[in-house]
Amino acid sequence: MVNVPIVLLLMIFLSSPSYATPPRSLSKGASLSVEKPNNALVSANGVFTAGFRNVGDNAYCFAIWFTQSSNYTIVWMANRDQPVNGRGSVLSLLKDGNLVLRDIGRIDTWSTNTKSVSQVELTLLDTGNLVLRTSSSDNYTNTLWESFKFPTDTLLPDMLLTRHTKLVSSRSQSNYSSGMYSLYFDNDNVLRLLYDGPETSSLYWPDPALLFPFGRTKYNSSRIAFMNSAGYFMSSDAYTFLAGDFGEGPKRRLTIDFDGNLRIYSLEEKQWKWDVSWQAIPEPCKVHGICGANSLCVQQVHGKRCSCLPGFKEKHSSIDHDWSNGCEPKYNHSYQFGGSDFVELPKVDFYGFDLEAPQTMSVEDCKSRCLELKSCKAVMYQKVTGTCYVKSVLFNGIQTPNFAGTTYLRLPKENLKSYDDESARKGISMQMNCSMDISQTLEKDYPEDRENRFLVYLLWFVGGLGGVEMFCIIVGSCCLYRANGRTSLLVQQGQLFVLVGFRKFTYKELQQATSGFSNEVGKGGGGTVYKGVLPDRRVAAIKRLNDATHNEGEFLAEVSTIGKINHMNLIEMWGFCSERKHRLLVYEYMERGSLAENLSSNVLDWEQRFEIALGTAKGLAYLHEECLEWVLHCDVKPENILLDSNYKPKVADFGLSKLLKRGRLSNISSFSTMRGTRGYMAPEWVFNLPITSKVDVYSYGIVLLELITGQSPGTFNAVEIGGSAQTHKYHHLVTWVRDKMNASSTDDHDIASSIAEIMDSRVDYQYSMAKMEVLVRVALQCVHEEKDRRPTMSKVVEMLSHHDNTYKEFNEVEIET
Ligand SMILES: *[C@@H]1O[C@H](CO)[C@@H](O)[C@H](O)[C@H]1NC(C)=O
Ligand SMILES: *[C@@H]1O[C@H](CO)[C@@H](O)[C@H](O)[C@H]1NC(C)=O
Ligand SMILES: *[C@@H]1O[C@H](CO)[C@@H](O)[C@H](O)[C@H]1NC(C)=O
Ligand SMILES: *[C@@H]1O[C@H](CO)[C@@H](O)[C@H](O)[C@H]1NC(C)=O
Ligand SMILES: *[C@@H]1O[C@H](CO)[C@@H](O)[C@H](O)[C@H]1NC(C)=O
Ligand SMILES: *[C@@H]1O[C@H](CO)[C@@H](O)[C@H](O)[C@H]1NC(C)=O
Ligand SMILES: *[C@@H]1O[C@H](CO)[C@@H](O)[C@H](O)[C@H]1NC(C)=O
Ligand SMILES: *[C@@H]1O[C@H](CO)[C@@H](O)[C@H](O)[C@H]1NC(C)=O
Ligand SMILES: *[C@@H]1O[C@H](CO)[C@@H](O)[C@H](O)[C@H]1NC(C)=O
Repeated sequence: MVNVPIVLLLMIFLSSPSYATPPRSLSKGASLSVEKPNNALVSANGVFTAGFRNVGDNAYCFAIWFTQSSNYTIVWMANRDQPVNGRGSVLSLLKDGNLVLRDIGRIDTWSTNTKSVSQVELTLLDTGNLVLRTSSSDNYTNTLWESFKFPTDTLLPDMLLTRHTKLVSSRSQSNYSSGMYSLYFDNDNVLRLLYDGPETSSLYWPDPALLFPFGRTKYNSSRIAFMNSAGYFMSSDAYTFLAGDFGEGPKRRLTIDFDGNLRIYSLEEKQWKWDVSWQAIPEPCKVHGICGANSLCVQQVHGKRCSCLPGFKEKHSSIDHDWSNGCEPKYNHSYQFGGSDFVELPKVDFYGFDLEAPQTMSVEDCKSRCLELKSCKAVMYQKVTGTCYVKSVLFNGIQTPNFAGTTYLRLPKENLKSYDDESARKGISMQMNCSMDISQTLEKDYPEDRENRFLVYLLWFVGGLGGVEMFCIIVGSCCLYRANGRTSLLVQQGQLFVLVGFRKFTYKELQQATSGFSNEVGKGGGGTVYKGVLPDRRVAAIKRLNDATHNEGEFLAEVSTIGKINHMNLIEMWGFCSERKHRLLVYEYMERGSLAENLSSNVLDWEQRFEIALGTAKGLAYLHEECLEWVLHCDVKPENILLDSNYKPKVADFGLSKLLKRGRLSNISSFSTMRGTRGYMAPEWVFNLPITSKVDVYSYGIVLLELITGQSPGTFNAVEIGGSAQTHKYHHLVTWVRDKMNASSTDDHDIASSIAEIMDSRVDYQYSMAKMEVLVRVALQCVHEEKDRRPTMSKVVEMLSHHDNTYKEFNEVEIET
């Protein structure tokens, strides 16, 4: 007698293939039904599956997805804009060779429009390409149709984007129908991102503000782009880049997300989640239309926030968190009756819709101009240049600390008070908190490995329950966080090159420029500096980094941020080299060397010292107050203040910490031990307090004291670093000056003599008492132990540049003890 269990097993085994293992291909006359979940095609390697997916209430689409990934990651859809019913719908390969998707009632929803008399098969290839091809005696000869030629929002490795195809985003995270963002080759052969909304449309990448992005070409009309499996992207307009995790290994996809950003995702196969390894637009608010009309997109550390402008309310939208409809006036915005007035929105810009060409005028004239024009909704005014922009439509509103203009929003007078209250409550008209921002940004630098564990767990849990389809933005948004963590984000190099003539050098070029790195002119700041002559005859200081990050994407991102910084009191970076292990930076060369050398050689008179103090403060203020993402210097000292031929100071080595491996240590305490230079380091480093821009203010204060007294903090030799809060002693240099000033704080005559006592006796006695006093007092404020009592660098600039006016004010301020 046959063993019953074996028979059972056999029966299960024999019956299962048709049930558990989906077919590899579909031939003429066969079909897949929406009602049978296992009616699907799987690629030979098992990576991709093609079948029906639920996209809403009784709404199904025929799609291709990654078989394994948290939530199903859909990479292609046949009928994204026309889902079919959950009953009676089939995908059939007809006898005439046409592949059709039929809704219930035999309504053809989609088809390939193919015809063939010979044998035809529908197969899902290992690449994720669904192909319909003729087969004659097992020899595939002709591809009739392939899904790679009809992309939706995703480009898979080795799939071509051509002049005939484009990627179109999904409508939202839960709605897969065609959205408003697309990636395509424009008529001028350039690869672009387009926002195509209900009322307006505009290009937003590459940055339209730049005439033409350097590096891209309009003259290659091939119009093809692709990404290979290693994460190298190439487009025929000469735009290329590498994913942050470049190299064979993870599965990748390039997707235009519903938020308008273009990202490369890499599949992390331990948890089957997607990590962002590249994204086109670092600042989410730069995507056009992202918050709709009459709204403001506020750049935040980990993403963005949409809010209505004062006096406007959110337009009703059926989809949760869908801001594309923007906001509408809360009251009757009729300016004619009762007049109108302006609400000030600092650091706010609106893209486009200028009523007339920008003109130079005063801010008052700018507002008046707006009142003259019936359709003027607001003006944007840039104080630095005195330029007035008159806006007829309020679209693409963005508030970012990097922006140096102010928008004045025109509103009916009668309700102005309530708008003001509203904006104050919302924090719209408040200054962004620079120092806070920066300290948070520093924290972003810690390893990101554990950050989304909970989320991932959640994804798994839901995925495990098996009920919910469609992957996306939960993972998308946490990935965004990762990308914002700067690990993998490539700043658009093109932009930068245009702005500052910044370029990439080859290692060979720099080797030749420095005659084989023979003329060493300095060490420190993570590398050795060589003097060299560039091919264009410019004399350059070339810094070779010892311990730079080897991740090229990361390096480029940081370098391009530094390269964008342009101020007369900051050393200009001309370019960089990143080849294999080599990481070099190319700077302008400063003939006079550093402040340190010239201080010790004692050639600087008081006037020069004062100008150096002021110039240095301006450079640092620019770094801090412009809020350029993260630029704390963290190592302000005389060695890093270089002098040009007119003794104009330029601060060097800013932003460098991010380029070095040591900058990415796991916690602030280890971070602190590596940073700064003894004698110039603020107490925060020692006590593990949050690091803000005030650490630079402290170091700057010490530099001032050194300028004044000619004594370097080292000569006092009494810095006790590393003690507890109670035993830590302040600089003797600081204490010495403070005591001198304190002793004479009430009597003008005494002040003069105290100052004379502390001043560098080696220098000419001629000086302006007012200037010296301001210098000393500013220095003492800067070195206050409590960071909140130190002035900001811009305040320092203000105090130094108006020393005559502020003289009185200062006298009234008690010296902090
Ligand atoms: C397939 O057809 C081509 C020409 O049509 C022939 O060269 C090739 O040998 C055939 N391959 C097989 C496996 O029959
Ligand atoms: C998805 O978005 C489209 C276009 O906005 C809309 O017509 C459709 O009703 C939406 N579908 C769902 C399920 O919300
Ligand atoms: C245009 O780009 C394609 C793809 O990168 C390249 O193969 C081709 O040589 C280019 N043509 C010209 C004229 O540069
Ligand atoms: C707004 O006020 C104007 C002038 O009073 C009036 O003509 C118009 O109808 C009002 N619109 C609305 C929506 O109340
Ligand atoms: C800015 O940050 C500081 C320190 O974190 C905080 O005390 C201050 O209240 C903030 N200011 C604003 C306007 O948010
Ligand atoms: C994926 O999983 C998340 C996490 O719980 C769930 O909220 C979401 O609905 C899923 N996404 C889709 C598109 O089904
Ligand atoms: C400043 O220092 C540099 C480097 O030591 C030196 O070459 C230069 O001559 C100094 N300036 C003056 C005026 O001595
Ligand atoms: C922080 O860094 C210090 C010094 O490297 C180390 O001793 C400490 O364990 C670290 N703390 C954490 C939480 O990683
Ligand atoms: C400053 O002077 C006041 C009175 O003149 C004195 O009480 C105080 O201790 C002094 N502070 C320092 C730090 O010397």
